[in-house]
Amino acid sequence: MTGSAELLRHWQALNCTHLLGLPHIHYRTADSTNARALELAELGAPAGTLVTAAEQTAGRGRQGREWQAPAGKALLCSLILERPPQLLPLLAGIAIAEVVESVAEPTESVLLKWPNDVILGGGKVAGSLIQGRPQEAWTVLGIGVNVAFSPRELPAEIGRHAASLELERASIEVVQRRLLERLGHWLGQSTTNVLAAFRQRDTLLDQDVRWAGGSGVASGIDDSGALTVKLSGGEEVSLQSGEVHLEG
Ligand code: BTN
Repeated sequence: MTGSAELLRHWQALNCTHLLGLPHIHYRTADSTNARALELAELGAPAGTLVTAAEQTAGRGRQGREWQAPAGKALLCSLILERPPQLLPLLAGIAIAEVVESVAEPTESVLLKWPNDVILGGGKVAGSLIQGRPQEAWTVLGIGVNVAFSPRELPAEIGRHAASLELERASIEVVQRRLLERLGHWLGQSTTNVLAAFRQRDTLLDQDVRWAGGSGVASGIDDSGALTVKLSGGEEVSLQSGEVHLEG
């Protein structure tokens, strides 16, 4: 039996399920909290299970990239969710943005770059990665928040685009607690409210953007959560997923 399976058996014996953040499994070092949470979900861990790590040796980012953070200085967490809403990527970003605002009290609003990059002062302070088995009605939501380091501590090509809260290490726990609270709130909100909150923070709106398939001017988020882009001929296209870059 693997370590994860054993932990799960103990939890099932306690018969507590469906609380966001419980059970909570913390690793000093993990390959990736998403990988650990996916394994637990496959073994039948309950929705709400939270996996955190002080350090990841193979942190996963979107688009097959790596996610890096100095050991003990970031919130690295993954949650198992059941029947997640279609707008999960957007609502995760909103929840993180609210937490960042509450702990860092920045002078400017925290913005969201579709679908789920959280932008503080022009740099990416947090990101999320959703993986899972929609056909089995569960998903893993992985979130990384740069809490207690300077972007200069990251490799230059990542640090250049990154931001950090630059708080004490002790703030990681505060960020984690508040994040669970805000996620709980936004998971209970209507599609209309999620879309409205995202649109208020949409950093791509009216910006020149490019993606693998073309370029144009971002014209907002449609009701399905897709990014709409106006092409030079006036035609509008919807991007359902993927990566968009600001021109220039
Ligand atoms: C992105 O590229 O923006 C997504 C980053 C997601 C990183 C987090 S860190 C905790 C969790 N475990 C992982 O391996 N990835 C996510």
